[in-house]
Amino acid sequence: MKILATGGAGYIGSHTCVELLQNGHDVVVVDNLQNSKHEAVRRVQEITGHKLLFYKADLRDKAEIEKIFRENSIDAVIHFAGLKAVGESTRMPLEYYQNNITGTLVLCEVMRQAGVKTIVFSSSATVYGNPKTVPITEDFPLSAVNPYGRTKLMIEEILGDLHASDSSWNISILRYFNPVGAHKSGKIGEDPKDIPNNLFPFISQVAIGRLKELSVYGNDYPTSDGTGIREYIHVVDLASGHLKALEKIKGRTGLSVYNLGAGRGYSVLEAIAAFSKVSGKNIPYRITDRRPGDIPTCYADSSKANRELGWKALRGIDEMCADVWRWQMANPDGYVGQS
Ligand code: NAD
Ligand code: WQD
Repeated sequence: MKILATGGAGYIGSHTCVELLQNGHDVVVVDNLQNSKHEAVRRVQEITGHKLLFYKADLRDKAEIEKIFRENSIDAVIHFAGLKAVGESTRMPLEYYQNNITGTLVLCEVMRQAGVKTIVFSSSATVYGNPKTVPITEDFPLSAVNPYGRTKLMIEEILGDLHASDSSWNISILRYFNPVGAHKSGKIGEDPKDIPNNLFPFISQVAIGRLKELSVYGNDYPTSDGTGIREYIHVVDLASGHLKALEKIKGRTGLSVYNLGAGRGYSVLEAIAAFSKVSGKNIPYRITDRRPGDIPTCYADSSKANRELGWKALRGIDEMCADVWRWQMANPDGYVGQS
């Protein structure tokens, strides 16, 4: 198939492009490089030995997106492009709504015009808000507690309305839990622009000496050791989930929602211990106040994806840490310095 990956230069997109190319698909990427570097695309091609077609464009630029569909016979779209920082979204809600919602609307309009009605969408565990119980199944009530989360929820609703209006659409919504890790080659990985918001990039920057110490946001949660529990999933497992979703929806219609998680949760202290063991580095940390908006525990029941897509995460926490560490050591400053 010829797949258009919006946001394909980003963290999850670049890893998914590797999987797509290695499985015989043709890949077209559109990205405005707002939160990524073209170097990631170059490295995807280096890893796979296959070429992909790259367009530097903003999804909201309808003429550009129409051009991409005119110039390429696209079979399906994987829609990664979006802004994703929770804290930033509370400071810049309009930018988040404008980028994530308008970008998706323009994309769907152009897809409809072009008669391409197959889309896999990057949603997030954030749409479950603060779940009453765990593990979370896809039929749990949805809510969002910040503008970023609301964009994900709104896009899910937009896609639902689209499918309700025209059942020839074929839509797969993937709700990722906490993506971490990097490609085994150490050539691509997560490259936060500023000081990382997320736990694993922060830990690995402490381990390499770029940051002094980690703040552990609270140790008074109702969890085994008082720190927050999350379900971390290796980005390559996540990438393979997209392939499985595409295989499943090929030539069909419908709308399905899947949790993609790795099967168990880890506390912040467990994550630190795992990283420290694998890297051989001490990770200095300090317990601080809770981070506003954080929830105690979040992990998924991903058995629906297992049953219906034949997908299962294969990589455990040690492999996640080892791969983050390899990427961090090979690229101590990320893609910095590369265009
Ligand atoms: P990322 O920032 O690395 O990748 C997103 C890419 O989209 C970037 O390359 C960025 O430049 C591009 N982009 C943003 N707005 C654009 C626009 N208007 N036009 C064109 N390109 C644009 O983020 P990621 O971690 O790879 O996340 C990919 C998707 O998965 C996002 O939609 C995100 O919300 C979702 N998601 C991420 C996580 C996570 O923790 N990383 C968890 C759940 C869901
Ligand atoms: C994990 C745990 C923190 C940093 C976020 C988004 C979510 C999704 C994934 C996109 C929590 C603790 C963290 C630090 C810490 N993204 N922590 N010190 O908050 O579960 O999810 O990314 O959709 O929407 O909210 O991930 O990695 O930030 O935090 O103690 O410096 O680590 O409190 O318990 P989170 P995270």
